[in-house]
Amino acid sequence: MAGDMSSSAGDNNKKTACVTGGSGYIGSALIKLLLEEGYAVKTTVRNPGSILPSFRFSVSWLLLFRAVQIDGGGCDVIVNPTTVLPMLRIDLDLVCFLFPETPDDMQKNSHLKDLQQLGPLTVFRADMDEEDSFDDAVAGCDYVFLVAAPLNFSAQDPEKEQIEPAVRGTLNAMRSCVKAGTVRRVILTSSVAAVIRPDLQGDGHGHVLDENSWSDVEYLRANKPPTWAHCVSKVLLEKEACRFAEEHGISLVTVCPVIVVGAAPAPKARSSIVDCLSLLSGNEALLAALKGIEKTSGGVQLVHVDDLCRAELFVAEEAAAVGRYICCSLNTTVVEIARFLARKYPQYGVETNLPTDDDQQLLEKPRVSLSSAKLVREGFEFKYKTLDEIYGDVVEYGKALGILPY
Ligand SMILES: NC(=O)c1ccc[n+]([C@@H]2O[C@H](COP(=O)([O-])OP(=O)(O)OC[C@H]3O[C@@H](n4cnc5c(N)ncnc54)[C@H](OP(=O)(O)O)[C@@H]3O)[C@@H](O)[C@H]2O)c1
Repeated sequence: MAGDMSSSAGDNNKKTACVTGGSGYIGSALIKLLLEEGYAVKTTVRNPGSILPSFRFSVSWLLLFRAVQIDGGGCDVIVNPTTVLPMLRIDLDLVCFLFPETPDDMQKNSHLKDLQQLGPLTVFRADMDEEDSFDDAVAGCDYVFLVAAPLNFSAQDPEKEQIEPAVRGTLNAMRSCVKAGTVRRVILTSSVAAVIRPDLQGDGHGHVLDENSWSDVEYLRANKPPTWAHCVSKVLLEKEACRFAEEHGISLVTVCPVIVVGAAPAPKARSSIVDCLSLLSGNEALLAALKGIEKTSGGVQLVHVDDLCRAELFVAEEAAAVGRYICCSLNTTVVEIARFLARKYPQYGVETNLPTDDDQQLLEKPRVSLSSAKLVREGFEFKYKTLDEIYGDVVEYGKALGILPY
């Protein structure tokens, strides 16, 4: 089911990697890195958008071919245009109905055409809700990066609409990896959300969390603090993926990124970017979200998207890599970020005297830190370690996305 970018990925001389969720923020950056590193890349999107016209066309011809085969009992058939054309019309209508294209899809996926300039990139349609949906995309791949994830923070029924689809979708994709028979390693993108909740309260500073820390599913389900279902979904999908990998002899490595910042090819703003730019954009609701993150996480933990993608590739290629890897290069606070941004970008008039109240007591220093010592010990080096480095390209990205004025 490839779109009009078909056939180039799968080049025999290149290693092939599949990245699920190519329309997304991290997915798009990972595709770029892999292409730059000489990989042939296959990616999946739910609605191929601008790729769709030829996608519709090729599917229609497949359906037509099948119809002719059935009609002809498997023998050579001379295609009669008067019977074939109405059939093609019905096929097209059906495909257009099944995969409607919206201007939003076209915008969301426009970067994939640009990325194609960097190397062999094939786009497939796949949905985590559908069994076997990833079969074509992962077939023949050496590595599969599971980046796509249903993010449904406004679910009425979080168990049914957030947690179950996330776990089921991850296993659907992993089943496709088993079927492929070529996949050397699956790299699952989880989240700090699976590590950190509830925040360790208590005497103050100095809690350091590593890969042995798991968010407490029982506590989260019982108390339902903000974004609880997201955290539960990440814990459960990690554990289920691990169980499945062991059962089926798959090499699985999990990466748990903290808040990801930095420019990526995706042309649509994601929450980590808009939250981290809220001090510059002056958007109070988003700033409240950033403060909320600090409150529930005991700090603001950051990693640059380039470092995250490099870390994902590192754990894919390192034969000895095993288990979970926290990906965090800086533990900071809202107040520290505000002071830094005020100094670096005086033109935005960033408020450094941030109001604190009982509900939103801001921290001077992080109370909880996330440690990437395991990743570093095994040979990975972060490139972006300071606020200056991490925020280096995100202001320009924010301008390009329309979050910040020029
Ligand atoms: N950004 C961060 O700060 C951060 C931090 C920690 C962990 N993470 C994790 O990293 C992963 C990617 O995050 P992101 O920031 O790149 O998010 P994003 O930009 O929203 O991308 C999510 C991707 O998942 C796809 N997707 C959603 N539901 C799907 C489904 N049912 N079937 C197939 N694809 C589906 C989306 O496709 P559509 O375009 O079709 O919706 C999109 O491509 C997520 O697992 C997220 O939890 C992100």
